[in-house]
Amino acid sequence: MFSIKKVVTVVLNTVFVMSAALFASTISADNGQQELQLAQLSDGFNAETTYMASCFACHSTGAANAPKVGEGNADAWAPRLEKGMDAVVQNAINGLGAMPPKGLCFTCTDDDLRAVVQYMVDSST
Ligand code: HEC
Repeated sequence: MFSIKKVVTVVLNTVFVMSAALFASTISADNGQQELQLAQLSDGFNAETTYMASCFACHSTGAANAPKVGEGNADAWAPRLEKGMDAVVQNAINGLGAMPPKGLCFTCTDDDLRAVVQYMVDSST
């Protein structure tokens, strides 16, 4: 026969294990969502299209000494990349000299801008 004490212990243990599991799964679900958000770009975002719409005007011509994008322009980017990609992306977000904040792409998220900068650097060979 079950003693009432045993039953209570089993029930309590079950509740404890279940709530611990629930707690753990809540934490990992939160982390998962955060990671997803970090890597998430705006709906329908395309780095090349955004570059053409927002950055091309200055960065294809080198207006106001903007580092030029495209073949033969690796030298324009090398010294800027020396401070690290994160710093270069931050300058694109905050602006730098004649470079306006966000390159005037106000619908761009920080991740979008990072993707556009990556596109610009990758195309400057
Ligand atoms: C109005 C002209 C203009 C537009 C539009 C523009 N830029 Fe720039 N950008 C510049 C100029 C000028 C510089 C050089 C600034 C300096 O070094 O003083 C620059 C520099 C940069 C740099 C180098 C930052 C560094 O750390 O050296 C990045 C990256 C960049 N722009 C990204 C972008 C992106 C992305 C866009 C579009 C979303 C954009 N720019 C749009 C003018 C522009």
